[in-house]
Amino acid sequence: MSDKLIIFDTTLRDGEQSPGASMTRDEKLRIARQLERLRVDVIEAGFAAASPGDFEAVRTIALHIREATVCSLARANDRDIARAAEALKEAPRSRIHTFIATSELHMEKKLRMTREQVLEQARLAVRFARNLCPDIEFSPEDGYRSDPDFLCRVLEAVIEEGATTINVPDTVGYAIPELYGNFIRMLRERVPNADKAIWSVHCHNDLGMAVANSLAGVKIGGARQVECTINGLGERAGNTSLEEVVMAVKTRRDHFDLEVGIDTSQIVPASRLVAQTTGFVVQPNKAVVGANAFAHASGIHQDGVLKARDTYEIMRAEDVGWSANKIVLGKLSGRNAFRQRLQELGVELESEAELNAAFARFKDLADRKSEIFDEDIIALLGDESVTS
Ligand code: KIV
Ligand code: ZN
Repeated sequence: MSDKLIIFDTTLRDGEQSPGASMTRDEKLRIARQLERLRVDVIEAGFAAASPGDFEAVRTIALHIREATVCSLARANDRDIARAAEALKEAPRSRIHTFIATSELHMEKKLRMTREQVLEQARLAVRFARNLCPDIEFSPEDGYRSDPDFLCRVLEAVIEEGATTINVPDTVGYAIPELYGNFIRMLRERVPNADKAIWSVHCHNDLGMAVANSLAGVKIGGARQVECTINGLGERAGNTSLEEVVMAVKTRRDHFDLEVGIDTSQIVPASRLVAQTTGFVVQPNKAVVGANAFAHASGIHQDGVLKARDTYEIMRAEDVGWSANKIVLGKLSGRNAFRQRLQELGVELESEAELNAAFARFKDLADRKSEIFDEDIIALLGDESVTS
């Protein structure tokens, strides 16, 4: 089993399915370039057969991205797969990702197909795709809610036809971490040719557990690819968030013991670019990329962080691309945090008495104003105190 975790970014495909998040070709290319700086392994650039615009976006990204594998989604039919192959033809490394639903609900109500028809279509689609591209991913849509016996038959068949990655979507975010992890493990144990493919997890966040489910799929199930998006962008409540998965695996290497090729210093720039492009604002308390993710407001926490950062920080803000951790000065802040900020502002006070007086004025202001900015402090001290 490989000890590398493949990061498959689908911001430009599943992320874009978020209502109101559609992007132009040039916006997608800008994001793809940032994903390459981030060093994701696979960029799912779009769904080439969905529209001429999406075809163009996939083609343009395939033309410009040199390091990452560029992927296009395709339904399990020849037309979609041929369009995907055509859009990807200039990419140095390309992947066709084909899918068909396998749950009873989807087969009966949506596809109006029998199990045998779905099995045959999946098999033929992978056979056709494999003749056009050596790297083929297959997804049984709504896989987590599918009958395990039937799912095992489908997965065995598509691996036999040459699928190199098997992705198991929790399409509607219904999974629970332990159950999803066990589900992946069960499939890998029961599908006879399972070892011929890399197993992948793809989770949606309807119950707020996409990241936890993905990590359970990795740890319990043995998956070695995670499908995710920047800021967790995606339909409904979104997809697994890339930054959270990557930082969980890196921060808790003691638990996961896996390598990820991501340049984490590019995480915050990627988050900002996606937020600005889509207009989807990142909530301030969002892990890793939220404005408050490294901010300390309570006096006790501020004092601790100033003495030793790891008292209240499990990651370094600079490691994920923030300029530094942020001490928010307010009414709960202590003298130590205030003194430190004065030093950062180049303010030198002559004596302890002067510091005490300034601190008293600061507290007085903080009672009236929830957050004190650097400009407030400078105004509070008078310009003559600023020496640099
Ligand atoms: O959620 C899902 O099932 C998907 C598939 C197309 C992979 O996005
Ligand atoms: Zn999805």
